[in-house]
Amino acid sequence: MAEKRSTFSGKLGFVLATAGSAVGLGNIWRFPYLAAKYGGGIFLLVYIILALTFGFALMCAEIAIGRKTGVSAIEAFGKLNKKFKFVGWLCSIVPIIILPYYSVIGGWIIKYCTVFITGNITSAATDGFFDSFISAPAEPLLWFAIYIGLTALVVLLGVEKGIEKVSKIMMPVLVVLTIFIAGYAMFMPGALEGVKFYIMPDFSKFSATTVLAAMGQLFYSMSLAMGIMITYGSYMKKDVSLEGSVKQIELFDTGIAFLAGLMIIPAVFAFSGGDESALGKGPGLMFVTLPKVFESMAGGTIVGLLFFILVLFAALTSSISLMETVVSIVKDKTGLSRNKTLLIVLIGSVILGTLSALGYGTLKDIKIIGMAFLDFFDFISNSVLMPIVAFLTCIFVGYIIKPDMFIEEIELTGKFKRKKLFLIVIKYFAPICIVLILISSVLDALGIVKI
Ligand code: PHE
Repeated sequence: MAEKRSTFSGKLGFVLATAGSAVGLGNIWRFPYLAAKYGGGIFLLVYIILALTFGFALMCAEIAIGRKTGVSAIEAFGKLNKKFKFVGWLCSIVPIIILPYYSVIGGWIIKYCTVFITGNITSAATDGFFDSFISAPAEPLLWFAIYIGLTALVVLLGVEKGIEKVSKIMMPVLVVLTIFIAGYAMFMPGALEGVKFYIMPDFSKFSATTVLAAMGQLFYSMSLAMGIMITYGSYMKKDVSLEGSVKQIELFDTGIAFLAGLMIIPAVFAFSGGDESALGKGPGLMFVTLPKVFESMAGGTIVGLLFFILVLFAALTSSISLMETVVSIVKDKTGLSRNKTLLIVLIGSVILGTLSALGYGTLKDIKIIGMAFLDFFDFISNSVLMPIVAFLTCIFVGYIIKPDMFIEEIELTGKFKRKKLFLIVIKYFAPICIVLILISSVLDALGIVKI
C-alpha cells in the first residue's frame, strides 16, 4: 500500500474507537451469565486479576505489534518473522467464527426492542418467553438476518463513522442507564443475597475452569487474541501514549461489565427467591431476567426499550468492527473488490449463523461435543483458539522477537511504568498459566481428571 495509513486523531480518538469495538455484547450479555455460572464473586475476582495482568500486557503487546509494523495481524507476524506467519492466520479464524453467532445474539436484541416497542412487556417477563422464542422454527433466523444485514449495510455504505459518532453519545447514556437499573435491581426484595454472591468470592468454587472461562471472557471482551487490536494499533499515531490508552480502555471495558453483572445477578436472586439454580440459565440469562426487572418498574417499558436500543448500538459498533476485519482478511487474500468480498463474507456468515440461530429449535437434536451450535462456536473460539493465539503471541513477543522492540515502541511517549509487570506476564505468567489451563481443561473434557 503506497498511500499513507490514515490514523486516529489523538488519544481520545483512539481510546473511543477502540472502546467502541471492545464494549459490546461481551460486557452486557456474556459477562453476567458467565459470572453467574462460575460462582459469582470468585469469577469476578479472577477476572479482575486477569484483566490487570494478562489483559493489560496482551493489549499493550498487540497494539505495539500493530503500531510497529503498520499492518494488520495477518501480515504483522510474518513481517517480523516468517515462521510465525501462521499465527496471523490463526488470529484471522477467530473473528470469522465469532461474527455469525454474535449476529444471532444481535438479532435477539432487535427482537427485544420490538417487544418493548409493542408494549408486550408482560409476556416478555413470563418464564417460557425466551425459550419459546429461541426454539421457534424460523423467528430467530429472521432477526439474525436483519441484524447481519444491518451490519453489512453499514459496512457497504462506509458509514461507520456516523455510527461511531452516534454511539459516542449513546455510550455514556448506556453507562448512566446501567447504573440506574443496577441501583434499582439491587434494592429489590431478596436481591441483597445476589449482591453478596456477585461481590464476595467463595473460594470453594474456584477451579481451573473458572480461570479458563474468565480468560476466554477477557479476550472476548477486550477484543484480544484475534488480531483486532493489532489492526487498531496500526492506525495509532506515534505520539499517543500506548500505556495510558490501554489503561483507559481496560477501565472502561471492565467497568461496564461489572455494572452489567450488578444489574442482572441480584435480580436473578430477587425473582427466583434465592434459588441458585436460576443462575445457570446460560446465554439466555439477560433476556430472561431483565424483562422481569423492567416489568416491576414504573415506566419500565420506556426504560427497557431505551436500554435495548442502547445495547443494540453498542453491539453494532462491535459487529461492524468484526465484519470490517473479516472483509479485509478475505479481500487481502483473494484480491477481489471490496463489494464482492463483502458479499462473500455475508453469505458465509449467514450460513454459519443459520446453524447458531436454529441450534436451539429446528436443529436442537444436533449437538457437537454436547453443545448447541452457538455454544460450540463460542467455546471453540473463546476457550480453545484464543488461548492458543494468546500463548503464541506471548512466545513471539517474549522470546522470538524479544520484548525490547515493543518496549521501545511503548516508550516513544515516555517511560513504560509497568514494564516489569509486562515482562513477567508476557514471558512467564501468561504462557505457563495458559498451558496449564488448556491441559487441565482438555483432560476435564475427556473425563480423565475432574477439576
Ligand atoms: N469485544 C466485543 C464485545 O465485548 C466483541 C468483539 C470481539 C468485537 C471481537 C469485535 C471484535 O462484545
